[in-house]
Amino acid sequence: MSDLVFSGVQPSAASVHIGNYLGAMKWFVKLQEQFPLMVCVVDFHALTSVDKRGELRSFSQSLAATYLALGLTKDSTILFRQSDIPEVCELTWYLACQFPLGLLERATAFKDKREKQEQVNSGLLFYPILMAADILLYKATKVPVGADQKQHIEMTREVSEKFNYRFGTTFPQPEPLIDKKTGIIPGLDGRKMSKSYDNFIGLFETEKVIESKVKKIVTDSKGVDESKDPETCNVFSLYNHFATEDEISELRESYLKGGLGYGTAKMELFRVIMRELSPIREKYTYYMSRPREVETILEQGAEKARIIALKTMKEVKEAIGI
Ligand code: TYM
Repeated sequence: MSDLVFSGVQPSAASVHIGNYLGAMKWFVKLQEQFPLMVCVVDFHALTSVDKRGELRSFSQSLAATYLALGLTKDSTILFRQSDIPEVCELTWYLACQFPLGLLERATAFKDKREKQEQVNSGLLFYPILMAADILLYKATKVPVGADQKQHIEMTREVSEKFNYRFGTTFPQPEPLIDKKTGIIPGLDGRKMSKSYDNFIGLFETEKVIESKVKKIVTDSKGVDESKDPETCNVFSLYNHFATEDEISELRESYLKGGLGYGTAKMELFRVIMRELSPIREKYTYYMSRPREVETILEQGAEKARIIALKTMKEVKEAIGI
């Protein structure tokens, strides 16, 4: 079976953050040159947390504009919105009937959210099955994601195996593509960058907000003259992802030597972040001012996705005997 790469991001906020960008999205652009690629705006997933009327549509539009701003093209990538292919919900049901409830309840993301939220909707419990349906509906074989999604891909493999065992080989065993270096991008407080920890830097926040967030990155309390450890520093850790090799070794030396305060290191980090993000931010503004163009790209993507989805659903129903 030839490889098909599939991934998705939730339109759960007005802007994705640099954890999403470095952990997964930046990678999509490289992958589109090597493999057939499908990238999805997973709005059904986002519905587990977005509850204001109209918000999901506007977040979806800005996520699609983000994909295009990053360099995904409609000719190399099938770019589409999850809810345009409702068969994914039908497949979710078929898969759910093969999956033990106990495993869903033990999913880390679900447990974390249950601990934090008073009211947990059942969508959160079914989240991994919907994600498995995303991947299996298109028979994707490779899934580029951040390390936090590893368990979800393992569940996808498991449900694929259970379905195949019961009804005959229908689905592949997709493998996660997780980059060791960018698998977990730290946030301002050193924990994994995440919207729910409110420790993120949004790709499209104003320059002023990004600067003030960079200034808030937590460091130890070493003075300017003291030697500092680059390996345990949150500022340096983010710098690694935006600076050139030369810049990284220069900053490492300054850390070790002493004489450089964290304030200066933070401004240097801010400079390299903006250097990389500025062209993306410009293109994002371009696409955001052309909603019709973006919508057409999503519609064309959905047409292509639907062809694959309907073919798989036909096989699935035949396999089950519906
Ligand atoms: P979402 O929107 O929560 O995250 C999108 C992608 O960003 C990665 N990510 C990170 N990577 C490194 N460091 C971080 N701090 C960080 N924060 C987020 C996530 O790992 C993810 O790759 N469940 C998926 C959405 C999804 C999906 C799919 C993905 C739904 N269906 C099918 C792949 C295939 C998610 O986490 O979205």
